[in-house]
Amino acid sequence: MSIVEDTLRELEATKNDFWNISRETGDFIEFLIKVSNAQNVLEIGTSNGYSGLRIALALKETGGKLTTIEYWDKRRSVAIENFKKCGVDDIITAKLGPALTVIENELQNETFDFVFIDANKAQYIKDFELIHPLLKVGGIIVADDIISHADPVKPFVEEITHRDDYSAQILNLPDGVLIARKNK
Ligand SMILES: C[S@@+](CC[C@H](N)C(=O)[O-])C[C@H]1O[C@@H](n2cnc3c(N)ncnc32)[C@H](O)[C@@H]1O
Repeated sequence: MSIVEDTLRELEATKNDFWNISRETGDFIEFLIKVSNAQNVLEIGTSNGYSGLRIALALKETGGKLTTIEYWDKRRSVAIENFKKCGVDDIITAKLGPALTVIENELQNETFDFVFIDANKAQYIKDFELIHPLLKVGGIIVADDIISHADPVKPFVEEITHRDDYSAQILNLPDGVLIARKNK
């Protein structure tokens, strides 16, 4: 088995301790990044790097790059080690700090074509408000835990499903995954 597959399996064995996405959701995100040919991806909520690794493996095919944000120093360090071990650290910038502050202070000159939201559930709506101006038209937002954390994510889901500039669907993947496209 390859180092990448070994690492994915190791991380999947501890997924409940690090709140990682499921393998199925990772498969879906990898597929989406490849079919949309995403070039500049933002992830909110790095943890130990499982989803970041899945994203980066897809970006190795599209030639893109990932910026990922985590406010827990220890977790970010573990993620960086995992990225190095799997040879994807060259296309990842791992930011340390509260997501809203990092986006406001460090990412205002960036535009993204794919954003994955998976940190504080009650903050999804604020994440979305900050991401919206940075997301290109045609860009995609994916958000995890839409069914498992239905109450705290409700303001975000209500907003994005009722706007005429986004189309959104909730998919029956583990924990519930929202996918939205910015149409204009
Ligand atoms: C559900 S886990 C992310 C799992 C990761 N996406 C994966 O699937 O491998 C959420 C992470 O977001 C971090 N987090 C929570 N609130 C945050 C915030 N406001 N800013 C930055 N990171 C935050 C937590 O420390 C935690 O590691």
